[in-house]
Amino acid sequence: MPLHSAVALICATVSLFVIAGAEDPYRFFNWNVTYGDIFPLGVRQTGILINGQFPGPDIHSVTNDNLIINVFNSLNEPFLLSWNGVQNRRNSYEDGVYGTTCPIPPGKNFTYILQVKDQIGSFYYFPSLGFHKAAGGFGGIRILSRPRIPVPFPDPAGDYTVLIGDWYKANHTDLRAQLDSGRKLPFPDGILINGRGPGGASFNVEQGKTYRLRISNVGLQNSLNFRIQNHKLKLVEVEGTHTLQTTYSSIDLHLGQSMSVLFTADQPAQDYYIVVSSRFTNPVLTSTATLRYSNSAGPVSGPPPGGPTIQVDWSLNQARSIRTNLTASGPRPNPQGSYHYGLINTTRTIRLANSAGQVNGKQRYAVNSVSFVPADTPLKLADFFKIDGVYRIGSISDNPTGGGIYLDTSVMNSDYRSFIEIVFQNDEDIVQSWHLDGYSFFVVGMDGGQWTAASRNGYNLRDAVSRCTTQVKL
Ligand SMILES: *[C@@H]1O[C@H](CO)[C@@H](O)[C@H](O)[C@H]1NC(C)=O
Ligand SMILES: *[C@@H]1O[C@H](CO)[C@@H](O)[C@H](O)[C@H]1NC(C)=O
Ligand SMILES: *[C@@H]1O[C@H](CO)[C@@H](O)[C@H](O)[C@H]1NC(C)=O
Ligand SMILES: *[C@@H]1O[C@H](CO)[C@@H](O)[C@H](O)[C@H]1NC(C)=O
Ligand SMILES: *[C@@H]1O[C@H](CO)[C@@H](O)[C@H](O)[C@H]1NC(C)=O
Repeated sequence: MPLHSAVALICATVSLFVIAGAEDPYRFFNWNVTYGDIFPLGVRQTGILINGQFPGPDIHSVTNDNLIINVFNSLNEPFLLSWNGVQNRRNSYEDGVYGTTCPIPPGKNFTYILQVKDQIGSFYYFPSLGFHKAAGGFGGIRILSRPRIPVPFPDPAGDYTVLIGDWYKANHTDLRAQLDSGRKLPFPDGILINGRGPGGASFNVEQGKTYRLRISNVGLQNSLNFRIQNHKLKLVEVEGTHTLQTTYSSIDLHLGQSMSVLFTADQPAQDYYIVVSSRFTNPVLTSTATLRYSNSAGPVSGPPPGGPTIQVDWSLNQARSIRTNLTASGPRPNPQGSYHYGLINTTRTIRLANSAGQVNGKQRYAVNSVSFVPADTPLKLADFFKIDGVYRIGSISDNPTGGGIYLDTSVMNSDYRSFIEIVFQNDEDIVQSWHLDGYSFFVVGMDGGQWTAASRNGYNLRDAVSRCTTQVKL
């Protein structure tokens, strides 16, 4: 049966492509990025606003839309925006991270040209330079299915973006200075929900109706748990993949992850707590928002519901239960042109180990011992203008070296259409999130201990989710 559906899906994609052709719609955005006062935790701090908003405006789009986003940098520092989860097909120079793109100088503008080709789902954008993310500049991205493509659940009565993240009262320049003086990030001061502190945000619903929440963890460091008092959450989408529709009483979102849940307002008409709390921390940070029934008879009552705190296995089991719904529509091609990733032989194995330490008195983070430093010329420009000597291919090893941290412009090559197995190894005592910019991968396995070739026997080679961000547990 999966084979049959897969063939049908390929046909659908091909014919739609022919019909749509060059006619894919354009959406234009003009964004002015400024500093402005914000008070998310009750004290004034300098935030980064987009068109005066914190968080920034949502991007609403439909599969295959062209997004033309003209960003004016009115800060006094270079600025870049990165589009978490938007795939870069031969346009990685639109990715908006140091190394591939020139920063937008203060007072200048740059127009990003992106196409959300063959994509659906929930994602977000964020500023990628200078710790700006600690001040704002992030917002939701949603890509709706094209009108004739079936979505595996009825249209919800409402569709909300929910941006959650840990937060500091210190501004981004102060936090940056702490890292540059060799210290790690301090414990956060709170958790924000859509830019508001405890009790600040609210979501309106009508009794009996079903709503979609597109939740993203836009914070700096902490895994978070999300739940709604007396309401169940049905997971339906993870970073562009329609999942098996499993019901949970609460859901973990690790840093950088996005997912969609449905819930039905099926409880007595009053207000309820929406709770977000930190995972694997002591103390546990908790924040709330309000779910407000339109016919609400009264305010929230009772204590906010508790959730998992330090339980690692709970998180791992939940992560393993997130699977692709193989019969639901949704683009999920891979470059080999096959929907059956489990049947493709991998051509290379890369093992990446993270580490942290001090180099030249600064707090640095490394992959296989290399802590990335941007080259003077962005790498894609060096390629385009054929400038030699900007970087060395192979300046990072395919395997952990066991050596100390050193600085380099790490560049790893790969062959066109190769199918690569990447093992992320975390020997540190905090959860790591790994994100592949402009691309997705299948999360086939996750476990404690060291990876060995025998770990392959436990891979999910059938219905793993294709996504762009995965956590690696402590
Ligand atoms: C951006 O906003 C600032 C502050 O309001 C204003 O001075 C500037 O002219 C705006 N720039 C653009 C391009 O709109
Ligand atoms: C951040 O706060 C410090 C004082 O703690 C101040 O000197 C600095 O100018 C602030 N940075 C911004 C961007 O507002
Ligand atoms: C900057 O904005 C102007 C006015 O909208 C536009 O014409 C120009 O193309 C933009 N420049 C870049 C590099 O995006
Ligand atoms: C998978 O998607 C199909 C097709 O839309 C739907 O009928 C089915 O209920 C979904 N199955 C699960 C377990 O989510
Ligand atoms: C994968 O490798 C095996 C063993 O070398 C081979 O028999 C098989 O045909 C290969 N499969 C594909 C899809 O290339």
